[in-house]
Amino acid sequence: MRHFISIADLDRTEAVALLATAEHMAATQSRSIRKLPTLVGSTVVNLFFEDSTRTRISFEAAAKRLSADVINFSAKGSSLSKGESLKDTALTLQAMGADAVVVRSASSGAAHQLAHAGWIDQPIINAGDGAHEHPTQAMLDAFTLRHHLRPGDPNGGLDGLHVVIVGDVLHSRVARSNMLLLTLLGARVTLVAPPALLPVGAHAWPCEVLYDLDEALAAGPDAVMMLRVQRERMVGGGFFPTEGEYSRRYGLSTQRAARLPDHAIVLHPGPMNRGFEIAGDVADSDRSVIVEQVASGVFVRMAVLYHLLATDDREDAR
Ligand code: NCD
Repeated sequence: MRHFISIADLDRTEAVALLATAEHMAATQSRSIRKLPTLVGSTVVNLFFEDSTRTRISFEAAAKRLSADVINFSAKGSSLSKGESLKDTALTLQAMGADAVVVRSASSGAAHQLAHAGWIDQPIINAGDGAHEHPTQAMLDAFTLRHHLRPGDPNGGLDGLHVVIVGDVLHSRVARSNMLLLTLLGARVTLVAPPALLPVGAHAWPCEVLYDLDEALAAGPDAVMMLRVQRERMVGGGFFPTEGEYSRRYGLSTQRAARLPDHAIVLHPGPMNRGFEIAGDVADSDRSVIVEQVASGVFVRMAVLYHLLATDDREDAR
């Protein structure tokens, strides 16, 4: 593995290996000294063109737990706001001695361009590119699902699980990466969204697509993943009649959550719109693994950094 751009680049063996490394990382994090010397002397740059709290902090925590130095580079207040191109930024980071670059951008394909344009030699990690992919989020969701629903499974996958992903699929890189990863790991995925919030072509994806949340929940899924309604990307409006109507038809209310099988868990990538796509008391209920997802994020990102920076694969790929 040279870069970590898209779940579509992984095969099942690689995905399972990453999850296994994340398990090892998780085990180290319950020790009294949590810092590992693995990446001493390496510098990880967080290059964030889009606002982010948890993802940036999570990458920072992951890199620091592995003893790497971290430079946070956000577009606001940098030369990027003066019109500097992605190419010049990349050349600058390379000259400053970055060993890996974690990039988040509003444009789909930004991480791929940084990895393959030839401006920079270092591994690139996609921390979310437009509506395209958010591969570390999918890995942390798979890690959390495994922990609850397939602990110790010898195949390392999610075979036979049924996961329902609900909401603003159109704008969601989280939904796209999860659909790819969860099906790769053997789960059955159902997407539920109003027609206007489904991407063109979603019907050709390797999953079931429904418009009715109650119909999807009646199948008794093992997990429900709620997506944030991404109002900031809904320029022009018209995606649903009213917020109340959306919430009534697609929100995970207390009543709906009560109909889930006893073992079923509820996920949300955050940040949540409480009371809109998910009821506050569902988010705080025993079924909710939302806070645990944040913890899983650090383990998974440690695993990704480890695979890219600390193993021989990197030398082999050069
Ligand atoms: C997601 C993102 O940025 O794509 N959040 C995250 O990474 N924690 C989902 C979202 O913003 O709704």
